[in-house]
Amino acid sequence: MSIVSETTKSKSRLFEPLRIGPLHIDNRIVIAPMCQYSATEGTPGDWHLIHLGHLALSGAGLLIIEATAVEAEGRISPGDLGLYSDANEEGLARVLKATRAQSPIAIAMQLGHAGRKASSRAPWEGGKQIRPEEPGGWKAYAPSAVPHSPTEDAPIALDAAGLARVRDAFVAAARRAARLGIDGIEIHAAHGYLLHQFLSPIANHRTDEYGGSLENRLRFPLEVFDAVRKAFPADRPVWVRVSASDWVPGGWDLDSTVAFSQALKARGCAAIHVSSGGVSPQQAITLGAGYQVPFAERIKAEVGLPTIAVGLITEPRHAEAIVADGQADAVSLARAILYDPRWPWHAAAELGAQVKAPHQYWRSQPREFKDLFENAQFGAR
Ligand SMILES: Cc1cc2nc3c(=O)[nH]c(=O)nc-3n(C[C@H](O)[C@H](O)[C@H](O)COP(=O)(O)O)c2cc1C
Repeated sequence: MSIVSETTKSKSRLFEPLRIGPLHIDNRIVIAPMCQYSATEGTPGDWHLIHLGHLALSGAGLLIIEATAVEAEGRISPGDLGLYSDANEEGLARVLKATRAQSPIAIAMQLGHAGRKASSRAPWEGGKQIRPEEPGGWKAYAPSAVPHSPTEDAPIALDAAGLARVRDAFVAAARRAARLGIDGIEIHAAHGYLLHQFLSPIANHRTDEYGGSLENRLRFPLEVFDAVRKAFPADRPVWVRVSASDWVPGGWDLDSTVAFSQALKARGCAAIHVSSGGVSPQQAITLGAGYQVPFAERIKAEVGLPTIAVGLITEPRHAEAIVADGQADAVSLARAILYDPRWPWHAAAELGAQVKAPHQYWRSQPREFKDLFENAQFGAR
């Protein structure tokens, strides 16, 4: 029987549990949502079973399923995951049943709509727009009939009926997610997709009550938040992923993001997942390790909601410092955890903490990291 001393446990802040609203997560390592472009008509298959299954064994505290479209026209690519049909729901039920049977990880889902960035090729096919007249393409919807880049086909500006349709699609998907036992919903309002398009003056040129002033630009994303919050069980959290800056002069910025986050907090939002960019090809991003962390830090300080920092966080000690210094409550990893799906194990070893590992793997625990695996009964090699 391993001895789990409180001192070992308390060494690392990254490995302390966290509450996101009513949801308990075992540690502060979050697997960021990552599109796989591998669904068929929105329905996941064996790839998702393997992909989500192996990430669920990573030892992270929370797994956020990729951007999942609330209607077919809201998929980024034809291969995007969706949650708009019974077939989508059944496919996800199969993936989740298998994953849950093997892992205790908390599982959230990112619900989104691509807006004018819909109908695109997968990144490995170049990522460019598939024009509506091309095979596999479709006409996109957006706040305004302004394309993402001038050479692209212009989207259809959503009218009142279109706004209601999209809002209802978010609600229907949230109900399906609830039935699937999803532990939390992250609403995608980042990376230049539909809700971010409403927020940003770069994409939102409307002259009605959904455009112009900051208050008007917040209106549709907040309506969607309210509708999803109402549709999803109260004992499970709903939170939002934001782009804290467009990185374009005159675009959406950190001050506006703070105002948006405050409005979300007042409506029962459980956390803010802080990313940036994506609304304009003109963006000039200053990249570097943890380059978006200062955004999360300011939102945490001024809004007081739990924040998840993301972006080029690759080193365990850096992740530890972000949490220990109070810059964010959790870190999320995308590329680093695809590259090394046991990143949380390696981080726990480096930081003197513990992770949950499947008992089938307990014998892999290296002798020098005794007590690495929580409750492991045997196995130092
Ligand atoms: C393969 C891949 C797919 C992604 N798909 C999504 C997505 O579905 N939703 C989203 O908000 N961000 C998506 N992102 C962005 C990541 O969630 C993350 O914000 C970004 O990669 C920066 O984090 P990193 O430096 O740890 O990779 C994706 C990134 C990658 C690498």
